[in-house]
Amino acid sequence: MARIIAVVSGKGGVGKTTVTANLGIILGGMGYKVTLIDADVGLNNLDIALGLEDRVVYDVFDVISGRALPEEALIGSQDFPGVGLLPSVKGSEGIKAAAFQAITAIYAKTADYVLIDAPAGVEQGFHRAVSAAKEVVIVTTPHLSAVKDADRTLEALGVYDVDVCGLVVNRVIPERVQKGEAVSGDAIAGLMRLKLLGELPESDEIGINSLSAPRSESRKAYIRLAEAIDSDKEGYRVSERKRFFLFGRK
Ligand SMILES: Nc1ncnc2c1ncn2[C@@H]1O[C@H](COP(=O)(O)OP(=O)(O)O)[C@@H](O)[C@H]1O
Ligand SMILES: [Mg+2]
Repeated sequence: MARIIAVVSGKGGVGKTTVTANLGIILGGMGYKVTLIDADVGLNNLDIALGLEDRVVYDVFDVISGRALPEEALIGSQDFPGVGLLPSVKGSEGIKAAAFQAITAIYAKTADYVLIDAPAGVEQGFHRAVSAAKEVVIVTTPHLSAVKDADRTLEALGVYDVDVCGLVVNRVIPERVQKGEAVSGDAIAGLMRLKLLGELPESDEIGINSLSAPRSESRKAYIRLAEAIDSDKEGYRVSERKRFFLFGRK
């Protein structure tokens, strides 16, 4: 039975899709069977992040409606051993959380990891993604607006039956942190009372290309992140801890 992890953020454009793709590739490289599910029906770009957009035949809606078998709908690539992608499709906003949960559970039976790329916000698409997950990883950048939204997301998670693995801080520029111009990942995770799973550097290479150089800082950071997630089997429940909200509640 797979660990089912939704990658969420609150704010859009912070790197959920990039993190889902790259983390999946690294976990696949570690020998795990990984299924990546695109739950962002609006942007629908996990296939693009993986460079697999030309290979899309079936999507999540085809599986839910029975037009494709779950395994048949997965796109694999020799470049990413162990990884299969279930693409999303525009116009499938009506998919019910229960249906999405049901197909996720089918994939979980035959994988080690199911990673769900969630949309921004805490609305219907978020609900669908998180309802199907057992755990969540929260992605933010060091910017205040992203941290605020991540904190709101953490609050929204309180009503779900999920464990929070921890926080990923993306687009970190170490020199800026050293000069005191940017907040460190540790400081952000500390403020949010979350475990810092990893910091990912700002990269000139786009998406999965940042993994291609074996010695790249991005690749090393993703390996550390994958190992942190892989060794963290416990997580914790938002609803079971004393919440401390950074920015006050409305
Ligand atoms: N560490 C990074 N360094 C530089 N650009 C990044 C980094 N992470 C993500 N990006 C870029 O930021 C944009 C948004 O990323 P994406 O993963 O689509 O975010 P989200 O899924 O949260 O909306 C993309 O153009 C992506 O290539
Ligand atoms: Mg995305």
